[in-house]
This record gives sequence, C-alpha cells and structure tokens, in this order.
Amino acid sequence: MTNWDTPGLVDIPAVRDHLGALGVVEKDLPFPFPIKRVYFLYGVPADAVRGSHAHKALNQLIIAVSGSFVVELDNGTEKTSYDLHSPDKGLRVPPGYWRTLSNFSSGAAALVFASEEYDPTDYIRDYEEFVSWSQK
Ligand code: TYD
Repeated sequence: MTNWDTPGLVDIPAVRDHLGALGVVEKDLPFPFPIKRVYFLYGVPADAVRGSHAHKALNQLIIAVSGSFVVELDNGTEKTSYDLHSPDKGLRVPPGYWRTLSNFSSGAAALVFASEEYDPTDYIRDYEEFVSWSQK
C-alpha cells in the first residue's frame, strides 16, 4: 500500500485504447484525501524556479500532464529530486517538505491536487524557519 507519509511516485490510472489515454484521479484513487482544490502551472519560463516553500498540513499530488519538470523535495536534512515527465506518474508530496519546481520544458503543465483549501498561513516561505520547524 502506498505510504502517503513519505514522498514518492504513484501510478495514475488511465483508460487506454487506440484513441489515446484518459487519466483519472477520483475519490481516494490514487489521492486518499478530499480533493479540496485543483490548480495547474503552465507557461513557466525554462529558467524559473517555483515553489521554494513548505506546507504545514497540505498533502498534494503533482502530475506532469504535459512536458517535464523537476521537483526537489527537502525534509530539512535530506533532498531528493524527481523528474516528472509522464502523465501516468504522479508525485505525492506530504506536508513538511520544502519543494522547488524547476527545469520546466516548453509547454510543460503541472496539475496539482490539494487536500486543503488555499491558506496562506499553511505556508512556510523562509528556509531557516522551515529547518527549525522541521526539527521540532
Ligand atoms: P505559490 O503557491 O507561491 O506558487 P508556486 O509555489 O508554484 O510558485 O502561489 C503563487 C501565487 O498564487 C501566490 O500569490 C498565491 C496564489 N495562489 C492562489 O491564489 N491560490 C492557490 O490555490 C495557489 C496554489 C496559489
């Protein structure tokens, strides 16, 4: 069973036939949280770095529905990079991870499912503050 306490790649179910593929994210599959928000990043310049923050409570599922980009996750002591380049894989991002998104290819789109409504107070935007918070 997938452990949503840790980051990692999850399979995104898809219905495939000779007409192409239809990816599906629905109740609990594969995101076992209420989907309170869906947002997407697109038109990101190749040299842009997005993210650079952590969340205290938010769980997310990030899918490269078009093109590719790199997500680096940092728990305060260890960093892991994930190359997202296929709509049939998603990255689970639990709370408590500093994330940066970079190396967006031309035409890349990141689709994000979120377990909570938008809440600026759930963000930690200062890295030193994040490291102190993560060590509590
Ligand atoms: P932010 O989360 O900082 O984006 P990223 O980490 O990808 O760079 O959000 C960018 C801006 O968009 C910021 O002003 C907050 C706003 N925003 C919303 O209004 N609603 C949302 O659901 C999200 C994710 C961001």
